[in-house]
Amino acid sequence: MLQQWKQEINECDSLQKLEEIRVSLLGKTGKITTMLKTLGGLAPEQRREKGAEINQLKENILSFLEDRRTFLSAEALQQQLDSEGLDVTLPVRPELIGTLHPLTRTMEEVIAYFTQSGFCVAEGTDIEDEEHNFNALNIPAHHPARQSHDTFYLNSPDKLLRTHTSPVQIRTMKTTQPPIRILSLGRVYRYEFDATHTPMFHQVEGLVIDKGIHMGHLKSCLGEFLKHYFNVADLPMRFRPSFFPFTEPSAEVDIGCSKEEETLKIGAGKDWLEILGCGMVHPKVLGFCGIDPDVYQGFAFGMGLDRISMLKYGLPDIRPFFEGDVRWSKHYGFSPFISAGT
Ligand code: DAH
Repeated sequence: MLQQWKQEINECDSLQKLEEIRVSLLGKTGKITTMLKTLGGLAPEQRREKGAEINQLKENILSFLEDRRTFLSAEALQQQLDSEGLDVTLPVRPELIGTLHPLTRTMEEVIAYFTQSGFCVAEGTDIEDEEHNFNALNIPAHHPARQSHDTFYLNSPDKLLRTHTSPVQIRTMKTTQPPIRILSLGRVYRYEFDATHTPMFHQVEGLVIDKGIHMGHLKSCLGEFLKHYFNVADLPMRFRPSFFPFTEPSAEVDIGCSKEEETLKIGAGKDWLEILGCGMVHPKVLGFCGIDPDVYQGFAFGMGLDRISMLKYGLPDIRPFFEGDVRWSKHYGFSPFISAGT
């Protein structure tokens, strides 16, 4: 009997049939199960002997079933792999390849440049509180700078959508010992909407804290970046005194350009274009974050990513950035196969 069942199991060619065999032998009314049931009617001596014999039979069958199941499963998997295999040598179907959004491309370029100069990318959150978005940046309640931010407040008390990436400075300085060199890119929100403003847009924030940092470092850091980013070696640049509550002194940076009829050209010309805000981190802000302003100094800058993307790639209107029109992405997007690295 054992030999016959063994053969049946080993010749079985599908997992489903194997299961049928298992049920016919070991199921509730299976042959071996039925044999075990007859033990009850035997004399004790015979029962012991016969019992051991049937149990041995059962063990053997279980092990044959298991071996066959392993074999058939492996075979089924192999068949599946063979039938679902991909031919990676097939040519690419261009209509299926998407493009990188100009903003994604700009972010990659900015990250590639600054990480080469030793900056790390720090993450922040879109939902912030008044403490980090305003107070710790030396913008107390009722400060006029708050009005200019057109903030979206959330229903939950004290929560808002961050109006700039500057709160990442605070979070970083509170948790990191200087020297610090970070870059933070992401979404920011303000209640405004026209050809150059959308309620959600993107900024990049830079922060450097160390001993002996001064305006000269700030100037060369930003000057080199702007030349590189706009790919203009003799890009004129000017620092205009400005005001931000979290920097002292503060400046806005303009770059040279020429506006001829409707076209704007970045580089030496008779016009100027405002491009970013920056300054030396205010001693109060350092102190608030537990950094001794008598020992450490630093500079910070903030820049609109959508804006520098529009300027570099000649995009006149910011609104289509977020409309998801495939025709726009095809026209203005970038190939995902070309690196933004420097
Ligand atoms: N947070 C400013 C804004 O959104 C931009 C900015 C200005 C950031 C100066 C800075 C800075 O870090 O130093 O308008």
